[in-house]
Amino acid sequence: MAIERTLSILKPDATRRNLTGKINALFEEAGLRIVAQKRIQLTEATAGQFYAVHKERPFYGSLVASMISAPVVVQVLEGENAVLAHRGVMGATDPKKAEPHTVRAQFAESIEANSVHGSDSLENAATEIAFFFAGTEILP
Ligand code: TYD
Repeated sequence: MAIERTLSILKPDATRRNLTGKINALFEEAGLRIVAQKRIQLTEATAGQFYAVHKERPFYGSLVASMISAPVVVQVLEGENAVLAHRGVMGATDPKKAEPHTVRAQFAESIEANSVHGSDSLENAATEIAFFFAGTEILP
């Protein structure tokens, strides 16, 4: 088993409803360690750049607006197979399709306000971690 790092974001719908502790508890119970974390306000520019891969999708504008509607908590999670382990705790993008024990099934308001982001590959995780964190901010 490989120790990996992944980038996690607790989205505005989660910070607005004061759910960051409950969601972090699910990550920690799954064996993921929070090795970096900060609460920040995304801007249209930073959220747009982060989600640039979705620029042509019909939901892009609404997604960016939703991501800047309140602060987010960006985090680096570390653990065995962290990318997949985190995706497993997050659940399917659409909360209606997510397994009952997952963050999205328990907390998401909609497919857009779905409480958490997680990198979808080890390669994207490295890029996304570097987007938000300097190496000196990550403390295993
Ligand atoms: P995506 O990368 O497909 O999902 P995931 O977050 O599970 O990796 O989509 C990124 C985000 O875009 C998703 O978390 C919420 C938003 N989104 C919508 O608002 N509507 C949609 O139909 C889809 C597919 C995503």
